[in-house]
Amino acid sequence: MTAIIDIKGLTKRYKTITAVDDLTLSVEEGSIYGFVGPNGAGKTTTMQVLTTLLKPTAGEAFVAGYSVTRNPRDVRRVIGYMPDFFGVYDDMKVWEYLDFFAACYDIPESDRPPLIADLLALVDLSHRADDMVDGLSRGMKQRLCLARTLTHDPQVLILDEPASGLDPRARVEIRQLLVELAGMGKTVFFSTHILADVQEICTQVGIIEAGKLVMQGDIEDMQRQLIPYREVVITLIGGADKAKDFLFAYEGVQVVEDRSADNGRSRLHVTMAGDDMAVSQLLAAMVAAEFPVMHFTEETRDLESVFMRATKGIVS
Ligand SMILES: Nc1ncnc2c1ncn2[C@@H]1O[C@H](COP(=O)(O)OP(=O)(O)OP(=O)(O)O)[C@@H](O)[C@H]1O
Ligand SMILES: [Mg+2]
Repeated sequence: MTAIIDIKGLTKRYKTITAVDDLTLSVEEGSIYGFVGPNGAGKTTTMQVLTTLLKPTAGEAFVAGYSVTRNPRDVRRVIGYMPDFFGVYDDMKVWEYLDFFAACYDIPESDRPPLIADLLALVDLSHRADDMVDGLSRGMKQRLCLARTLTHDPQVLILDEPASGLDPRARVEIRQLLVELAGMGKTVFFSTHILADVQEICTQVGIIEAGKLVMQGDIEDMQRQLIPYREVVITLIGGADKAKDFLFAYEGVQVVEDRSADNGRSRLHVTMAGDDMAVSQLLAAMVAAEFPVMHFTEETRDLESVFMRATKGIVS
């Protein structure tokens, strides 16, 4: 795997504040990378350095092999950037807005109408082409902004909170759009506070806090590192006393909690150490011992608990 975004020892200081502190991070080509961290962690600052809008105080960053400090023009050609604010566009229609950005990227006038039609269709705004930009809802503006980042068909998308402030449906639509863009071969690097989105679509995650990378990897790896124990919920027909004794004596089992409801079934919550095989062997052992297991499932360790463990609540 090649790193299409490669950040090495990046530092950005504003007078007294160190917003990004010796950050090293790499994004694999073709991935959907979720960049998460508390408010003020340095996400926007990192993105502004990557998009050549800010000069780093120290360190280096490369996009598609181009240095953000030595080849900023090449970097700008290969990236599409969606900032965390939309701006005001008085007196501009939706299609004029895209036409304006296409012109900025030197796309010939005759090529623009079909391009704009494609972009509007992609973000589902074809029916609003002649509406005023300022009259769009927030979700529509965000989709329009995403369309704008695609005008020059960039390889890498750098999106600063593309789904913030959206309703659940609009959020899911943005999420699907990001997956679609990755399917078109683009690399998506985006910041977000919506961990459910990260869990759903990201192939890579980086957690930043106080300007430093706390963790990077795929979600499963992070979960394993941070939450080494497993939680299994077992439903049995009938009483649970014998099963509880069995589980307490079973190697690796640390806690057994009885959460039975009075419905002829028992429900046990088991915390145990071990890998996937150990979980599977526990089920086999219970079946072999003829316990009437109805249901056996591992509780998912969600990204929220990973995030809470990885970050310490430091505010930069
Ligand atoms: N122009 C600026 N001048 C001075 N300090 C700044 C400037 N921009 C950002 N900072 C500071 O740099 C730090 C990192 O800010 P940044 O906007 O990068 O965080 P963020 O991770 O994007 O946060 P959020 O989740 O709230 O968007 C903060 O302490 C912030 O106050
Ligand atoms: Mg930000």
